[in-house]
Amino acid sequence: MTKIDDLKKERKSIVDTYSGKRVKDTYIDGVIKNFQDVQYVKIKEIIEETSDTKSFILEPDYDKGTKELASFRAGQYISLKMFIDGAYTTRAYSLSSAPSRINKGYRITIKRVPDGLVSNIMLDQIKVGDGLTISRPMGDFGYNKIRDEKNVIGIAGGSGITPFMALAYAVQDKLEDFNLTVFYSVKTEEDIIFKKEIEHFNKHSKKVKFVITLTREEKDGYLNGHINKEMMEPYIKEFNTVLMCGPKALYKTMNEILGEFNIPRKCVHYENFFLDYEPTEEKTYELKVIMKNDFKIIKCKSNETLLVSMEKAGIKAPSLCRVGICGYCRSVILDGKIKMVGGNMEKALSENDYIHPCITYPESDIVLRLDI
Ligand code: FES
Repeated sequence: MTKIDDLKKERKSIVDTYSGKRVKDTYIDGVIKNFQDVQYVKIKEIIEETSDTKSFILEPDYDKGTKELASFRAGQYISLKMFIDGAYTTRAYSLSSAPSRINKGYRITIKRVPDGLVSNIMLDQIKVGDGLTISRPMGDFGYNKIRDEKNVIGIAGGSGITPFMALAYAVQDKLEDFNLTVFYSVKTEEDIIFKKEIEHFNKHSKKVKFVITLTREEKDGYLNGHINKEMMEPYIKEFNTVLMCGPKALYKTMNEILGEFNIPRKCVHYENFFLDYEPTEEKTYELKVIMKNDFKIIKCKSNETLLVSMEKAGIKAPSLCRVGICGYCRSVILDGKIKMVGGNMEKALSENDYIHPCITYPESDIVLRLDI
């Protein structure tokens, strides 16, 4: 019998053992004991960037034991942890401040999302002095001098500008050495986040340039329309690295344009905090979550990830990036049919039923074992 056969046998016995229904749970609700190098911070300042976007400057919360903020590389994000109406959830936000000026605090910048649970709380309820719990900085988005070319083209839409501000400061402060041109697409001049900082870079920096295009109005000083081949042509060199951060519609158009420039896929890198999936019909299934010697049975919907279903049911399941990249939520499907959307799960693991619940939708009743 192979190792895999043994594993399958063991999993089958777990499913058999946890039959029946248990309503009251103990261990499973408290899975998260620590939150990957947790940092306790306080809101030092809130800056109104546009009518629907605010920046939050975060400083260490000494009273809670965080003496200094962890350093970060330009392009990284932190995961914000919140308890809302008795349920636990996380959200990832790129750091938009200068990595070399960590003593001034982290800056995260949040745009209102229609029906956005966390973004609306941050924009409407959080005030200066409030405490937050965040992870250490994480993620691979950004400049990698071994991998990347010296000519870096940034493509940003809406609040996707945030990691590029950190990259621009990293170049300005000589932490990184490359030429950065950022194409920034927004609806109107009113929607430009970090307008003054962008103007400052455009005026004073030899290595950083922002090209802003307005898609819903024409104004002097800006390009007009969606980012297109003609706008980009003057900035494309023989060898380029492209970094993209924005809404999914932007990625689709940009991939076509980059194809016309013959920029190889391996030179294009994405930061995305969204999932590109819509099930054909909405159904409700049963999700059995097993952890150590405990289990809980909850409902899950075909249009919600298993992570979201667990959070709504009050299970403190692990999560950080919520887009299948960090691996922190890794779990095992013991039974049921699923649809996993994107992510970077290793082939060997996915072939052996490991999944990332943050990017997994149910297509039947599910038995899931939290693998931590
Ligand atoms: S939370 Fe990062 S992979 Fe699921």
